[in-house]
Amino acid sequence: MAKILTGIQSTGTPHLGNILGAIIPAVKMANLTDDESYLFIANMHSLTQIKDDKALKENTFATAATWLAFGLDPRKTCFYRQSDVPEVTELAWYLSCFFPYQRLKLAHSFKDKSENLKDVNSGLFSYPMLMSADILLYDADIVPVGKDQLQHLEITRDVASRFNNLMGETFIIPQAKIEDDTKYITGTDGEKMSKSKNNIIDIFVDDKKLRKQIMKIETQSLSVEDPKNPEECNVFKLFEIIASEDDVQLLKNQYLKGGVGYGEAKELLFNKILKRFAGNREKYFELLENKDEVEALLLTGAHKAREQAQKVLKRVRSRVGF
Ligand code: ADP
Ligand code: TRP
Repeated sequence: MAKILTGIQSTGTPHLGNILGAIIPAVKMANLTDDESYLFIANMHSLTQIKDDKALKENTFATAATWLAFGLDPRKTCFYRQSDVPEVTELAWYLSCFFPYQRLKLAHSFKDKSENLKDVNSGLFSYPMLMSADILLYDADIVPVGKDQLQHLEITRDVASRFNNLMGETFIIPQAKIEDDTKYITGTDGEKMSKSKNNIIDIFVDDKKLRKQIMKIETQSLSVEDPKNPEECNVFKLFEIIASEDDVQLLKNQYLKGGVGYGEAKELLFNKILKRFAGNREKYFELLENKDEVEALLLTGAHKAREQAQKVLKRVRSRVGF
């Protein structure tokens, strides 16, 4: 049996890019597999960037509610909050003592972040050690991640091997799983949709605000009658991912022939989003109204996670002579 594990940082409310690119595929994978799966909210990692207790708490709930609203089944998947399993920080320390400082200095993600952020703290630097601990603490075999996380997975494999070689077989060496067909969702400006770019579509706002975000999508300035290339249109790119094949074909033909304006296309997209995500939005708001319920689910998940974590930690402690 292969254990699947992945973590998600809670740096804000997940946007449409996160939902279509990461949440829906991961939930599908967790629900389809007969293997054990672990999915957690990496709120300790978020602390490297967010220093506001209320925001951290809100983001954790928003992230948890999104996963649940998109079908994560907490009876099947061990769903927990990283900070509820303090064993992870102990393991992160042991791992840090087995990984060369010079190698950690080569991490791309630290280089990128340290160039763009004002708060370059040591947590940001040792981030990959905590991430390695997240994975090794559960004997995970498979870790589904985006391409940007591949180097972190290499570091995890490296530190696990170094420890095993020096102290004896202790850790399972995990493998990254990259979703080849992970969709690249464009934002309102046509660039990759990203929190940091002010180009997101947040489906968890009221209809009026949601409509405003859609109306903000940048387009060319062609008149209604002009034929348009659908592949070059930011509205169509989103429509294509959300609507049914028949509806996509219909709109495509209208674009090519001319006769459909950008305003109308945006209206169509807005209605599709409302329709497709109606159930998820309702569930999301319901969960946020019942935070106690979400809290209880996360604590049950953490309880299960800690049982496993303590077993692995016991193994590591004995290896280092504690
Ligand atoms: P952001 O770029 O908004 O900060 P994150 O880096 O926190 O998003 O990404 C969280 C997850 O969502 C990752 O698995 C990432 O691959 C996925 N993701 C983020 N933006 C997009 C996008 N525009 N299209 C597809 N997937 C995305
Ligand atoms: N660093 C990951 C990201 O930014 C989140 C994460 C933390 C993670 N710990 C993990 C992912 C362990 C997979 C496994 O997306």
